[in-house]
Amino acid sequence: MAIFGYLRREKRMEKTCFAGYVLPLTRLLGCLDVLGADLMRYVFLLLVVLLTLPAITSGSYREEFEKEFLSEPWAGEQTEVDVCIECHSSEKMKPSFRNIIEEWKTSWHFQNKISCHDCHGGDPKDAAMAMSPQRGFLGTPQYVQVPEFCGKCHVGILKYYLDSGHGKALKASGKGPNCVTCHGAHNIQKASIDIINEQRCTKCHSYERAKIMKQALFLTEEKITALESSLKRLRAEGVFAEDEEKSLFSTEAEFRTLFHTVDVSLVKERTDDFTRKLSAIEKQIQDTFLELGFRKNFSAFMMLLFAGLGVVIFLLSKTPRD
Ligand code: HEC
Ligand code: HEC
Ligand code: HEC
Ligand code: HEC
Ligand code: HEC
Repeated sequence: MAIFGYLRREKRMEKTCFAGYVLPLTRLLGCLDVLGADLMRYVFLLLVVLLTLPAITSGSYREEFEKEFLSEPWAGEQTEVDVCIECHSSEKMKPSFRNIIEEWKTSWHFQNKISCHDCHGGDPKDAAMAMSPQRGFLGTPQYVQVPEFCGKCHVGILKYYLDSGHGKALKASGKGPNCVTCHGAHNIQKASIDIINEQRCTKCHSYERAKIMKQALFLTEEKITALESSLKRLRAEGVFAEDEEKSLFSTEAEFRTLFHTVDVSLVKERTDDFTRKLSAIEKQIQDTFLELGFRKNFSAFMMLLFAGLGVVIFLLSKTPRD
């Protein structure tokens, strides 16, 4: 409205300014307005810039973040024609193998573009040579080979795992659980401490030690979940909390690998450290919420001011000039 009011005012300028005025007061205002036309234009521009600045800055950050995230060294590549998937989902494939495709399509790996050949090797572009060792095909890993099979990408976790009671038991006697025991192979989902449950952890020993482990992880897990939902709320408000997202991301990644040590005293020892880091992030998020409240009030104030100005200009343009 304000914009139209202003433009209409400008069009009429020539006709009205030098015409006779009824009241001396409006005459004064009218001529001041002509002098101020340039000034008004600058004020208008300044307002537009002020009001759009926050939106522009958060937008460019989002792009930056996506670029950075997608260029992670292990972000798998998706080939357009994938003969592994085509042949393995064809009618001729035995049903138990065809299920693999269905399972994989529900997985977190699928969502992150990790495909058959990323794990099994081979050539997804050449049907004839797809499963040839010359093209890097690894086949199906044996039970004791699985940790290295997965660990070529999950390097940090592999290290913790191999040093743990589980990893040592696997290498010594083949009795420890491997990655697939706890995560599955093709339907792998995003990880959480819910993986630790009675059914899964009592196959080889009592649930007692699993329970202690879960309790040790619980508080940190709860805090991470709470912070994630705060960040989600911020994002819903259009705020991308750059530093907070990044530090939560790395703290969480560090925390979630810790389980693989299956070392309860180490987890307890590290909990203080995590609590401190997470509290710092929590503080930053609270500050962002406060700032957001302020910014909203400021925008509302600017809108009002702007609308007010518009009304004044509009009224001036309406004033009878002849
Ligand atoms: C995250 C890594 C990963 C991905 C991705 C993956 N696999 Fe597997 N696959 C494995 C592992 C590990 C095993 C060994 C299974 C076990 O130990 O139970 C396996 C086993 C298999 C087997 C043998 C199953 C059997 O019963 O002998 C086939 C066939 C197979 N995968 C096909 C595929 C196909 C086709 C795809 C693509 C849709 C695929 N895999 C994607 C990790 C993967
Ligand atoms: C032209 C069809 C075809 C293509 C292409 C193909 N496969 Fe297979 N694949 C098969 C068949 C058939 C079997 C079952 C062989 C058996 O039961 O002995 C199989 C078995 C497998 C197995 C389990 C047996 C083993 O040797 O470990 C894996 C893993 C596997 N394929 C992965 C792949 C991957 C990865 C690709 C792509 C790089 C691929 N396949 C491409 C037909 C194909
Ligand atoms: C080619 C590299 C690659 C291989 C091999 C691989 N992964 Fe992954 N994995 C990824 C990527 C990329 C992601 C998605 C990014 C993320 O969530 O960390 C992922 C995610 C995961 C997640 C979910 C992480 C989360 O955020 O909660 C689990 C669990 C997982 N992988 C387990 C395995 C297991 C078990 C194997 C072996 C059977 C395996 N991966 C093999 C690359 C790989
Ligand atoms: C005894 C069960 C068990 C075994 C064995 C195991 N994991 Fe996990 N894994 C878990 C649990 C539980 C979590 C979730 C921990 C948490 O949320 O604090 C997890 C988390 C993960 C994550 C998510 C980490 C992140 O950054 O979010 C990945 C990836 C993963 N595991 C990969 C592996 C790989 C690779 C192996 C084999 C070398 C393996 N796991 C062996 C139980 C297991
Ligand atoms: C395939 C068998 C198997 C499964 C499944 C299994 N464990 Fe274990 N676990 C072992 C073996 C073997 C050891 C080491 C030898 C021992 O202490 O008995 C062990 C040791 C442990 C320890 C003690 C480690 C230490 O250094 O003192 C904890 C804690 C533990 N497991 C937790 C879990 C949890 C949690 C799960 C479920 C997510 C689980 N385990 C599932 C076989 C298993």
